[in-house]
Amino acid sequence: MAANSSDCALIDAGLYLPAETFFREQTGMALTYDDVTLATRYSDVLPRETSLETTIAERLNLTIPIISADMDTVTESRMAIAMALNGGLGLIHYNMPERTQLSEVSRVKNHVHGLIQEPIKIGPDQSVGDVLELVEQRGFAFRTFPVVDKNEKLLGLLTGHVVRPRYAARKVSDAMTPRKSLHTVNVKELGEDPIARADRFFNEHIGIHKLLVVDDEDRLRGLFTISDIERITQEKSAQSKPARDEKFRLLCGAAVSATRNSTGELDKDRIASHVGGLVERGVDVVAVSTAHGFSKGVGETVKLIRSLFPDLPIIAGNVTSAEGVEFLANSGANAIKIGQGPGSICTTRIVAGVGIPQLTALYVASRAAAKKGVSILADGGITKSGDIVKALTLSQAVICGGLLAGCTEAPGDILEINGKLYKQYRGMGSLAAMKAGSAARYGHSKDSTRKIAAEGIEALKEVSASLDTVLAQLIGGVQSGLGYLGAASLEQLRQNARFIRVTPAGQRESAPHDIVEVKASN
Ligand code: XMP
Repeated sequence: MAANSSDCALIDAGLYLPAETFFREQTGMALTYDDVTLATRYSDVLPRETSLETTIAERLNLTIPIISADMDTVTESRMAIAMALNGGLGLIHYNMPERTQLSEVSRVKNHVHGLIQEPIKIGPDQSVGDVLELVEQRGFAFRTFPVVDKNEKLLGLLTGHVVRPRYAARKVSDAMTPRKSLHTVNVKELGEDPIARADRFFNEHIGIHKLLVVDDEDRLRGLFTISDIERITQEKSAQSKPARDEKFRLLCGAAVSATRNSTGELDKDRIASHVGGLVERGVDVVAVSTAHGFSKGVGETVKLIRSLFPDLPIIAGNVTSAEGVEFLANSGANAIKIGQGPGSICTTRIVAGVGIPQLTALYVASRAAAKKGVSILADGGITKSGDIVKALTLSQAVICGGLLAGCTEAPGDILEINGKLYKQYRGMGSLAAMKAGSAARYGHSKDSTRKIAAEGIEALKEVSASLDTVLAQLIGGVQSGLGYLGAASLEQLRQNARFIRVTPAGQRESAPHDIVEVKASN
């Protein structure tokens, strides 16, 4: 039976408190995720039936409330594509030349899932032996190559069964299947669901395993393989709906900085042309990312972007106070990043002695956000799915860095140390990242000869599974959380959340204890 105002319900209500009452009772005390736990509520909701849809700004809706951080070891186009395919959002970092960032955004916006947009191509005058050498050198696991002329015009397909040493001396043009015998589709015919289009093609053409995509001039624009399409269609039912814009393109965000010129003034022209370029490429949201968002420069930057691009969703931050949220909302931001110093690679609290533990910061910010009609994003310090559930009781989405930095889709090389595989993960306020461009985020100039104080460290993350697998685990955990609270949606989660503090002994009890662990759960 659902609880009504029975005596028993009153017992619960006296101890397990809604956010408003709970946080007001903690005056003078800052709490973070592990300091609290959520009480379970009556539920008729199955975890798998819960919806995690969230609105970050008008016209910016996500299927899952997870955003990958705008950090140079977390989000470039590959991560942003995978995030959007899973229903989330990637914010492409700005530690790269502006032109490169624009191309990264284009890659996401032009991505067609399942379509290999830049297949390895060969020329008609090469020999089969050259191709064998290429396969050997680059360690390709495939042996079928489109053949194009110097203008990318499709000439044929060199199929795997002729890429053999016995044909090494033959010219590609003699060994290939010629253009007239190839199956192709015009890129314009792919429609809204290219996977379904390719799937239909492979059903209709028994024994054909490759579908080439061309444009009106017969230039090669991509390649579908039957194995990719089969894998994707199998996985499709398990995945969340991709996050797309009204033109059916994947959503993509990009970070911009509050750039200053040589005299220390805000470089308005540069900011305007940078954001203008991003908008031209179809960016869905820009994030004015700084360590101290409640500051003149950030306010002016947000105001400038808002005046030039009235409809562009803007994320801005970071702040940890109600006044900070109000300031950025008044400047024109739609979503505010909350978090100063909670990140796994952050040292702001140690170096500068400032910052607020994350759950209290979120509570304070959420009250201001409700008044100003903006959303808030819980940025940093998320280490497990339970933290995400707690964060979502007060915010519209979480931003994750460290949790995703070990994924295959994160930028960076894999290092092997004592038989274990790692990827680099560094704070944007670490010395190395600031030298690469992010100094403005921390109020420094990268060319400064003055000694600058780092507010982040350089670290390693153990290589994890692909983003699909990591997100599936996280989403499963978040949905369980909603199920325990009888919440079918994130809005109901916010309504149903009842908090209570835990002691250090309670925290110890929360994790596996008094056992010899033989296999970690993930
Ligand atoms: P997690 O905990 O997910 O945190 O690894 C990612 C978030 O941390 C912030 N960030 C920094 N904060 N110094 C800081 O104080 C830094 O060097 C730094 N780099 C990133 C950022 O908000 C990110 O989303």
